[in-house]
Amino acid sequence: FIAPPETTGEGGAILAKDILGHPIPAAQILAEPPGTRALIAGLAGEPTYLIVKEDNTLDPIGIVNNCTHLGCTFPWNPIDEQFQCPCHGSRYAADGTVVRGPAPLPLKIVQVAVIDNSILISPWTQTDPRTGEKPWWV
Ligand code: FES
Repeated sequence: FIAPPETTGEGGAILAKDILGHPIPAAQILAEPPGTRALIAGLAGEPTYLIVKEDNTLDPIGIVNNCTHLGCTFPWNPIDEQFQCPCHGSRYAADGTVVRGPAPLPLKIVQVAVIDNSILISPWTQTDPRTGEKPWWV
């Protein structure tokens, strides 16, 4: 018997799901053009952006769609290449670092892995590659 990834993965990995709670096949996201930020339901149902890279793989870093100011969700602006929060105007670079406040902290990130046709999301607990420090959410 092999337990499903929901209950085993390292650090509590879960399958990326759609809004109805169905697992999303990796092929579905990878059919989108490079540069796509695809919104999925991640850890604890948190809306999370998955990024399709230029080489048509998924970026191993997913970005949680939860503004660090007061928690609004926000769209990706492909022209400015920023996440732009509609609530109070915070802007974040593609990697989730703050370009303009009032957001006080970079966006939370998660680990993304593709195994066969499944997308696994797990907590990011190691050093935050953007700050070189312990993540603020750990
Ligand atoms: Fe995003 Fe205030 S909640 S800027």
